[in-house]
Formats: sequence, C-alpha cells, structure tokens
Amino acid sequence: MNIHTTIEEMRAASRAARLGGLRLGFVPTMGALHEGHLSLVRAAIAQCDAVAVSIFVNPLQFGPNEDLAKYPQTFERDCELLRKEDVDFVFAPTVEEMYPEKAITYVTVEGLSEKLCGRSRPTHFRGVTTVVAKLFHIVEPDLAFFGQKDAAQAAIIRRMVRDLNFLVEIIVCPIVREPDGLAMSSRNAYLSSQERKSALVLYRALEEMRKNFDKGERNSRRLIEVGNKVLGQEAAVRFDYLEIVDPDTLDPREEIRRPTLVAIAAFVGSTRLIDNILLSP
Ligand code: PAJ
Repeated sequence: MNIHTTIEEMRAASRAARLGGLRLGFVPTMGALHEGHLSLVRAAIAQCDAVAVSIFVNPLQFGPNEDLAKYPQTFERDCELLRKEDVDFVFAPTVEEMYPEKAITYVTVEGLSEKLCGRSRPTHFRGVTTVVAKLFHIVEPDLAFFGQKDAAQAAIIRRMVRDLNFLVEIIVCPIVREPDGLAMSSRNAYLSSQERKSALVLYRALEEMRKNFDKGERNSRRLIEVGNKVLGQEAAVRFDYLEIVDPDTLDPREEIRRPTLVAIAAFVGSTRLIDNILLSP
C-alpha cells in the first residue's frame, strides 16, 4: 500500500494505474475509520482493480463553532486497517497541500446545500462539494463510493457530478450499524456511556416510523408525529430536524408514494449525530 501526501504523487500514481488499464475506485474519508468506512472500501475492492482511499479532515466543511480541532485522528490505525483490506493507495495530504492559499473558489450545489443539515450548517455542504471536486480532479477515479449514512451529502454529490460532467460513477452503499442499531460514525467516539444509550433514540424513532409505514401509514405529518413522540422520551437529546423528503431534491414530501428519505439530526450532549432510513412503498 502506497501512502501519498502530495497531490503530484497521488495524481502520478492514479494516472499510472489507469494507464495500465485498471479500473480505479476511490473512497474519500476524514479518517477515524470504522466498519462503515470499511464497507465502502470492500465495495470498491469488489468492483474495481485498484482502490485509493483519502484521509483528510477538511477544514472547509466545519463551521466556526464545530469540532474541527477535536475531530478524532487515528492515522496509524487507519493505515493498518486499510492495509488489511488490500487498499492500493492512501492519499493523506496536509491542509497546506490542499489549500496553499485561502480558498476563494467554491463548488456550491444551490438549492440542495441549504436543505437538511445545510440549514444549521450553512457552509458545510459547500465545503464538502469543494473538497470532493478537488479530490476527484486529483485522483481521477472511475468509480467513487459514498455512504447512505450521509444521505444529503450523497444526493448533493450525485447532483454535482451530473451538473459539472465529472467522469466518475457514484456508488452509494447502505448504512452500517452497531449491533443495537446505532449508525456507525467517527463522532460516536465523543459519546459518554450515558450519551451512547441516549443516542439510540434516533434509531428507535426511525424504526417506529418504519413500523407505522409498514402498517400502511403514508402521511408524512402523521409519521413525523410518531417519530417526535419517541424522540420526546429522551430529554438529553436536542433535535435539529426530523424530515421526510425526496431523496434526490431533498424537498419535503407530504405523502409517501415513491421511495422516500426519512432523515434525522440531533445533538446528544454536544455531539451532533445524523441517521436516516429509506421507505419504499
Ligand atoms: P466521513 O464522515 O469520514 O465519511 C466518509 C464516508 O463514509 C462517507 O461517504 C460516509 O457517508 C461514509 N460512512 C460513514 N459512516 C457510515 C456508516 N455507518 N455506514 C456507511 N457509510 C458510512 O463524509 C465525509 O467523511 C466527508 O464529508 C468527505 C466526503 C470525506 C469529504 O470531506
């Protein structure tokens, strides 16, 4: 496994792989890897001949009062995990390498970037699309793998790729959960054991909504009432949003007649967690 820290080196390595006729897969991450990330790596290995994983905590996608400074960094362990999976390239640039000057050019997917998490994190998705566009230009992958865990991020990146004619196919992989249902996240490491228990309410609310949907409920307002009732049982959890939306446009849906995204975000203590399910009639 080759670890590249400069753009030039990474670009040379991925170009050589593709010139050699290899189908190149790419998994962008911010490190602190867990089974959710590794599921993307395994999907990439199954579908490609060579795989690159980036590890870069992207300052552009963190707001001024967010957790950039304390975001977990476990680089050695991450490399060990990726080596075991047989990853070919790790791209781990410094902030100075990625942003030698203050960023003044951004990629913004207008109309999507301000929905769901974008409402309380107004510059977050702009930071994500800008860094992912840069990473796509550096790595030039044939396929790139993202998690359904960040459903809005996946929708926004799909749209960016379509609108800007990136030559990459986006593959979205299912959410990997802990045995009790909590969606895996690098941020789960922040939770105390009490908060870890409280955090399960996100999953419980989504599952209760799914149960009602399976019994035939198709009205979003009534499903949200069901979810809110479960959420109300956990005083330690402060809700940011619970929404039922079109998975591509992220616009609210009143009735569920087609595959629909139920997305939730909440603070457990000072840790912001997200989760979602897809409901298909
Ligand atoms: P990060 O949070 O490290 O996530 C990297 C990828 O792993 C994302 O596509 C995310 O959706 C996926 N992922 C995280 N938890 C998952 C889980 N439990 N199940 C399945 N997939 C999961 O998302 C980012 O980094 C950044 O925004 C990035 C795209 C790298 C741009 O900086």
